[in-house]
Amino acid sequence: MRTLNAFLVALLVGAGFVSTAAAQAGAGDAQAGQKKAAMCIGCHSIPGYQSSFPEVHKVPMIAGQNAKYLQASLAAYKSGDRRHPTMKAIAASLSDQDMADLAAYFENQAKDRATLADKPQSEPPAAVAELLTKGGCVACHGANFSKPSDPAFPKLAGQHADYLYVTLKGYKVQNNPHVGRSNPVMAGMTANFTQAQLKQLAQYIGSLPSELAVVPQSRFR
Ligand code: HEC
Ligand code: HEC
Repeated sequence: MRTLNAFLVALLVGAGFVSTAAAQAGAGDAQAGQKKAAMCIGCHSIPGYQSSFPEVHKVPMIAGQNAKYLQASLAAYKSGDRRHPTMKAIAASLSDQDMADLAAYFENQAKDRATLADKPQSEPPAAVAELLTKGGCVACHGANFSKPSDPAFPKLAGQHADYLYVTLKGYKVQNNPHVGRSNPVMAGMTANFTQAQLKQLAQYIGSLPSELAVVPQSRFR
């Protein structure tokens, strides 16, 4: 499994899947990003805000997330690899430079939060530990699920568990124009698990301490 993961990472990075947008745009400017974030804060900057379509779950926390990953995920909505209808429409209106600026802004927003210890303080329940070993998840996402092996991979620790579950299920969905994600790595990862097991993984990872946050913003500044 470990060699397979290393192979997949090499493949992804080598094929330029991971940082195409990053390579094309200039460096992100957090201040410029702040000005462009007006259309994001109504969902991403309201604590506990729920999304109701196509599934009910909390809107993901993006403050404190890796900028490279934020940029890559926005590019994936724009290209259609991620099919969530609202985010797809929003990303379609963004240039590569907009994405880089927004990513820099949201990464910076929670920069003052303490970085987590390399390992979570408590061990996962035995059943979850077995699933994590089977999936080799920590090789890419880090032992604390907040220190990925590549900055273009997401921090997961403490992200809303209901959102994590929706994303994990989504990697298994094919040929649905409105639901799911086409990511070759995570499709391979999730194929070997049942929905019940994916839910267990999401609940455990979502329960961990987090470097992610929701930073409330005023619409009127
Ligand atoms: C109408 C509500 C809404 C608005 C407005 C919105 N988002 Fe989102 N965003 C969501 C939802 C819901 C998801 C989860 C989609 C999915 O399941 O893939 C999401 C996902 C994301 C992700 C992926 C997070 C991850 O962990 O992979 C990023 C990055 C993001 N949004 C950035 C933005 C930015 C930047 C803006 C403004 C330009 C914005 N969003 C505006 C609701 C919204
Ligand atoms: C080979 C590296 C690799 C391995 C191993 C891996 N992941 Fe991932 N993971 C990624 C990448 C890359 C993404 C971003 C994919 C995308 O853009 O949708 C991701 C995305 C995710 C997401 C979506 C996060 C979000 O904010 O939308 C979750 C949840 C996740 N992984 C959980 C897991 C779990 C659980 C395992 C073990 C069963 C695992 N991953 C194994 C590389 C990996």
